[in-house]
Amino acid sequence: MGTATETGKKNGMNPETETKKKGGSQQGSEETPSYLQKFFLDQVKDMYYAEQELLKTMPEMKNAATTEELEDAIEEHMKQTQRHVKRLEKVFKMIGQKPEGKRCEAMDGLIKELKTILRETEENTMTRDAALIIAAQKIEHYEIASYGGLVALAITLGLERAADILDKTLMEEEMTDQMLTDIAEAYINVEAEHEGKYSWDKKLFMV
Ligand SMILES: [Fe+2]
Ligand SMILES: [Fe+2]
Repeated sequence: MGTATETGKKNGMNPETETKKKGGSQQGSEETPSYLQKFFLDQVKDMYYAEQELLKTMPEMKNAATTEELEDAIEEHMKQTQRHVKRLEKVFKMIGQKPEGKRCEAMDGLIKELKTILRETEENTMTRDAALIIAAQKIEHYEIASYGGLVALAITLGLERAADILDKTLMEEEMTDQMLTDIAEAYINVEAEHEGKYSWDKKLFMV
């Protein structure tokens, strides 16, 4: 029979991780966080950066909206986003870390795309709002994936209070996503469809 290290290698696992498991300690020490602890912390930092970048962009999103309804929805989510930042600070505190952001390239990209959409759509049109909603939903989906992962990791790491806090944010992101869908489908998409001259032959697309 091989040693734990050899077994770890055979299974394609990191031998150090395998050794730790056999050693019985799942916690790691304060000086040497486990790989998963480190990854969790990095993801919290990622979201700390992402939420703050988003917060900086939201006034521009709000001003760009055509309808009052979308403007109000963005305003409301801006307040929630401020709370999301505060909640992440609580999580940092719980795990004995100073709040610190780590560049989130995904959020940078999503914000860049949103700004391109604003440049490429006409002001005061429903098409602008339809496009803005989709850009905002891409951001929400990124946040939902991130917080969903963070909640699962927090539970795995035995950080139940952190998991509860992160889950509150996750629920708000999901509700925002749903609200954006509702606004788009209620009337924005339909009214956007009448803007400008329709140039495709609809008969070609009929089934
Ligand atoms: Fe958020
Ligand atoms: Fe959000």
